[in-house]
Amino acid sequence: MHYRMEDYRETADYIGSRLSAADTAIVLGSGLGGFADRLQGAVELPYCEIPHFPVATVASHRGTLLGGRINEKPVYCLAGRFHYYEGYSMEEIAYAVRVLHLLGVKNLILTNAAGAIRSSFRVGEFMLLTDYIKFFHDSPARGQLPPEFGSRFFDMTHPYDPLLQKAARKGAAAAGVTLREGVYAFMAGPQFETAAEIRMLRTLGADAVGMSTVPETIAAAQCGIRVLGISLLANMAAGILNAPLSDEEVVEAGKRSEADFACFLAETIKNITGE
Ligand code: HPA
Repeated sequence: MHYRMEDYRETADYIGSRLSAADTAIVLGSGLGGFADRLQGAVELPYCEIPHFPVATVASHRGTLLGGRINEKPVYCLAGRFHYYEGYSMEEIAYAVRVLHLLGVKNLILTNAAGAIRSSFRVGEFMLLTDYIKFFHDSPARGQLPPEFGSRFFDMTHPYDPLLQKAARKGAAAAGVTLREGVYAFMAGPQFETAAEIRMLRTLGADAVGMSTVPETIAAAQCGIRVLGISLLANMAAGILNAPLSDEEVVEAGKRSEADFACFLAETIKNITGE
């Protein structure tokens, strides 16, 4: 599936004619969709009704794009994301990000549930992404892309924006949640990692591991959107505790932290300043 510029435009026009404009968009990760209920004056567009939009297949993801306000700030909220392990191409995963760029979005907050690799981290804490590691060869920037979405070669020295990070640190303090900081390793999944893979990731400098966020980070960086990445540490990564990992555990952790997370996110958005 290759998208044409007309497809991106058609999607952006559809959304633009139904939702108010916003500078900031939030992608809600596994089990974290409850934040969407906090939006004031929300208008909801199910993904299946948006032309060319992929449809989320993961049960814990709602699959709607919302426009609304949080503390009077207009935002777009994607409740449900697209993962590589669902069978989507990197181009499909990046689709929504590129459409957000056409809609004028400047700040993208990517949230996810992740496994904690650093043993001093605890389940239920949050981690601010300071950087990422990705081994997997495929990239959303691979192939032919309309020039609107950035140049082929682009800097990724600091994928996460320092000012947005500052806003998140202040937001965490105001919400009274523990915010760790570290490097997120992207693994394609859907199987969880082996204990040996986690030891490898730790040796290479990763603090948490997950199956999302990095493709969107790359697509956003390419078209010049500032990115903030936040993980909920939903479980200790494989081999750290003597217990098997399960999807239920990840979703349950999301539910337990949903209220904290929503408060933290709302406080963070308050602290995001303009240009
Ligand atoms: N590994 C990969 N992805 C994840 C994990 C994990 O331990 N927890 C939540 N998403």
